[in-house]
Amino acid sequence: MAQWLDNAIFYEIYPQSFRDTNGDGIGDFQGIIEKLDYIKELGCNAIWLNPCFESPFGDAGYDVSDYYSAAPRYGTNEDLRRLFTEAHNRGMHVLLDLVPGHTSVEHPWFKESMKAEKNEFTDRYVWTDDVWEIPENMGHIGGISERNGACVVNFFSHQPALNYGFYKPEKSWQQSMEDEGPKATLEAMKDVMRFWLGMGCDGFRVDMAGSLVKNDEEGKGTIKLWQNVREFLNEEFPDAAMVSEWGEPDKSIQGGFHMDFLLHFGPSHYNDLFRCAEPYFSGRGKGDISAFVQKYMENYEKSEKKGLICIPSGNHDMDRLARRLHGDELKVAFAFLLSMPGAPFIYYGDEIGMRYVEGLKSVEGGYNRTGSRSPMQWDATTNAGFSSAPKEKLYIKQDESADRPTVEAQLADKDSLYYEVKKMIQIRQSTPALQSKGEITFVYAEKNAYPFAYIRKSGDDRILVIINPSEKEASFAGDFTVKEVLYSFGKEAEFADGKVTVSGGTAGFYRI
Ligand code: NOJ
Repeated sequence: MAQWLDNAIFYEIYPQSFRDTNGDGIGDFQGIIEKLDYIKELGCNAIWLNPCFESPFGDAGYDVSDYYSAAPRYGTNEDLRRLFTEAHNRGMHVLLDLVPGHTSVEHPWFKESMKAEKNEFTDRYVWTDDVWEIPENMGHIGGISERNGACVVNFFSHQPALNYGFYKPEKSWQQSMEDEGPKATLEAMKDVMRFWLGMGCDGFRVDMAGSLVKNDEEGKGTIKLWQNVREFLNEEFPDAAMVSEWGEPDKSIQGGFHMDFLLHFGPSHYNDLFRCAEPYFSGRGKGDISAFVQKYMENYEKSEKKGLICIPSGNHDMDRLARRLHGDELKVAFAFLLSMPGAPFIYYGDEIGMRYVEGLKSVEGGYNRTGSRSPMQWDATTNAGFSSAPKEKLYIKQDESADRPTVEAQLADKDSLYYEVKKMIQIRQSTPALQSKGEITFVYAEKNAYPFAYIRKSGDDRILVIINPSEKEASFAGDFTVKEVLYSFGKEAEFADGKVTVSGGTAGFYRI
């Protein structure tokens, strides 16, 4: 079991946009290696690296054309191996991004699968047996193969769905999970995992992990499939960490994943907090956290002691945290993100409040996501220290505002978001109750109300977390004896006469 997950704090790196060392305008492995000390200094001890394999990049690398080769624009397999080693030397772990649900149309498997003659890859993807038979409720590719059939897609129309079978096959072309084709697909994916784990990666963030078995509304087939993968890992790589992009922890954790994300899609109400018209973390104080807390607790109870739920600051698919939250609101939001159970995930640049860059043209299938993928802002040199390439050659345009945040400027300012995040990470790292497995009980999380409060607990140690994003003073009933103030942003809470009162825009961790 990947014990290190219990105290992991992840940093998500979108390799394209992190640090370019060869001046071609796009990030690379060497750039990541050079910045490992920065990540470690911030306090993160684990990395999730977005897909970095060969690809035509129609979906930023989530359209793999060779699972076994690093994309040359980032470096070689040996460079990637060096990245693992350098991370390990610093006590850090690295998760690669596994995309098991689909490939690029350029993958040799798909090219073989398109052939009219039967071959090893005929059943590697989900095909109907007549081009005019359109799969219901699923996108499809049709008219580009000599094979007579339509191929189901998993995401964009250039991402054909790999065939893991149907939970309940209904049509002649729908294979069962036990058929040879689906079984071979799963074995092929295990080989991919074996290859990278053997090279030194510590596990995977799994893309669309819940999408593999089709006609599987309750996820039963997909859960079974992942249990099979877990058995393989237990035998060959017992320490491999598995984090799913599924958004339904009750299912993914049954499938043997260690952690699942609560995300901007799915029924988690995560959006209510940071990414809706009136986010809970806005100082306007018009948000609601109660639905989120209810969903969270439902999931928490189902997954408790079996796995973890993680709440990311953002990722490459959603608006930057700083699109709707500003200034101190971000600090208060991080107080929440860094004091919840499960491993926190910090999306690169969120620790300095990088903004969503408005009005960008879509790059590599990014569309509205492109604004959250702009190159990291390190310092005041050319292209904010991201790359020495001419500005027009940058992978994605940078935030061009004069006051764009940079690491350098925030390092020089003790009141910066960077320092606040770093301080909270340090407190978390030295307080087991605040870490991944510390228990949580909500004390106050009422509908349309502020503040909200919860207790984190490990053994006898109990930490009361009180968060008031609203700019107005707020209070709730509660009788607590505070032994120690571990952290306070803004004025400390007042505890008197069975009531807790907090000023606007504050957050605090109190040992009780
Ligand atoms: C989820 C990934 O995070 C996203 O970036 C990608 O476009 C889709 N899955 C398809 O792989």
